[in-house]
Amino acid sequence: MASPRFSLFFLFFSLFPFSSPAEAQRPKALVLPVAKDAATLQYVARLHQRTPLVSLSAVVHLGGAFLEVDCERGYNSSTYRPVRCRSAQCNAARSRMCSVETNTCGVIPTNPFIQTSTSGDLADDVLSLSSTNGFNPGRPAAAPHVVFACAPTFLLEGLAKGAMGIAGLGRNPVGIPSQLAAAFSFRRKFALCLPSGGVGVAFFGNGPYVLLPGRDVSQRLIYTPLLVNPVSTAGAYFEGEPSVEYFIGVTSIVVNTKPVTVNRTLLAIDKKTGYGGTKISTVEPYTVLESSIYKAVVGAFARESGLRRVAPVKPFGFCFDSKGIGSTRVGPAVPQIDLVMQSQQVYWRIFGANSVVQVKEGVLCLAFVDGGVSPRTSIVIGGYQLENNLLEFDLAASKLGFSSSLLFGQTTCANFNFTSNA
Ligand SMILES: *[C@@H]1O[C@H](CO)[C@@H](O)[C@H](O)[C@H]1NC(C)=O
Ligand SMILES: *[C@@H]1O[C@H](CO)[C@@H](O)[C@H](O)[C@H]1NC(C)=O
Ligand SMILES: *[C@@H]1O[C@H](CO)[C@@H](O)[C@H](O)[C@H]1NC(C)=O
Repeated sequence: MASPRFSLFFLFFSLFPFSSPAEAQRPKALVLPVAKDAATLQYVARLHQRTPLVSLSAVVHLGGAFLEVDCERGYNSSTYRPVRCRSAQCNAARSRMCSVETNTCGVIPTNPFIQTSTSGDLADDVLSLSSTNGFNPGRPAAAPHVVFACAPTFLLEGLAKGAMGIAGLGRNPVGIPSQLAAAFSFRRKFALCLPSGGVGVAFFGNGPYVLLPGRDVSQRLIYTPLLVNPVSTAGAYFEGEPSVEYFIGVTSIVVNTKPVTVNRTLLAIDKKTGYGGTKISTVEPYTVLESSIYKAVVGAFARESGLRRVAPVKPFGFCFDSKGIGSTRVGPAVPQIDLVMQSQQVYWRIFGANSVVQVKEGVLCLAFVDGGVSPRTSIVIGGYQLENNLLEFDLAASKLGFSSSLLFGQTTCANFNFTSNA
């Protein structure tokens, strides 16, 4: 009776095709679902951590230095390890604190949403995401040693309901993107596609990034250098640390093809103080402009649109009657706002879907906020302006790819096909 053995043999082969298991398991890219929380306007990612794996909701902080997790409530994992003082992992975190009794490396976990920092232990555990071919999620891929900061429960105040931590996507070695790239030997690069509703997506590693119906949105990117701010912009930091946030070189602002007069000094990063410049943030729900820039942009927008101004609704300063405003594929038909980068040909064009927000029936507001005089950073591009735009952060090449509105390409960030093909 040889035949049963033969069929077993062939079954084995069809399940494991002709590549080595290690090869087959190493993913080329990973994918992460990211949803917008309507109550807080935060963007929440769903990861898996620990042994056994548990689902971990964490608020996305693009400029966060590392993953921060509540270790006080029910953290139970057989693979949890404290990071030792003076170890390579501790050095990678640029830590200068050490708890001598426990020989544990110390860091400063921060919650930027409530502007609170505290001290915490650096730890190491399994982090798991879905692999992807760019079209669908595939098998889970677990990185065995991902360094994170253990935070006390109180640090989670102000975060979206259910969030157990903050996912720091900063450009430093212990930021989540660099750690995943090191764990799976792929390029130090990730892409973020924040949704206005539904479930958006983040990719780690190489494209394609395919959104339904079959649009490879990695083809739509325009590039600008990522700049390093030599002075940390975190709430608390060790002296001499550079910022781990993503700065870009906006050189002028144009409304409906007319340049807006702004103080150029404010657009540059002051290398000594770290003040000025433009960064991208998922902490601010709307773009925040230094006061003189804000006034200039509002003035230009009001002139170009000729809209009928109505009483402003907080936090906005310029609201108008939406009657008679046409609608387009890329939102209400209002003047476009361009952030011009390294040359006149490279600009991030902001259309109605990202520039104005409906606050009540018949009332739209310019979705920009006055940041007051002498803020730390002159332009902080916030979440609303990022929605349904693909942003690719290439840390290896220090450049940002941006797509402008995907609505032009008849897709949205909520169109990744999350049906697994594993
Ligand atoms: C922690 O996990 C282990 C193994 O899964 C289990 O036996 C133990 O009861 C858990 N402890 C708590 C406090 O949940
Ligand atoms: C431009 O901004 C800088 C930095 O805040 C300030 O020192 C300078 O006086 C400003 N220039 C003008 C013309 O307002
Ligand atoms: C999503 O992916 C699944 C698995 O590959 C496929 O069966 C399904 O047709 C896809 N959905 C759409 C709308 O294309």
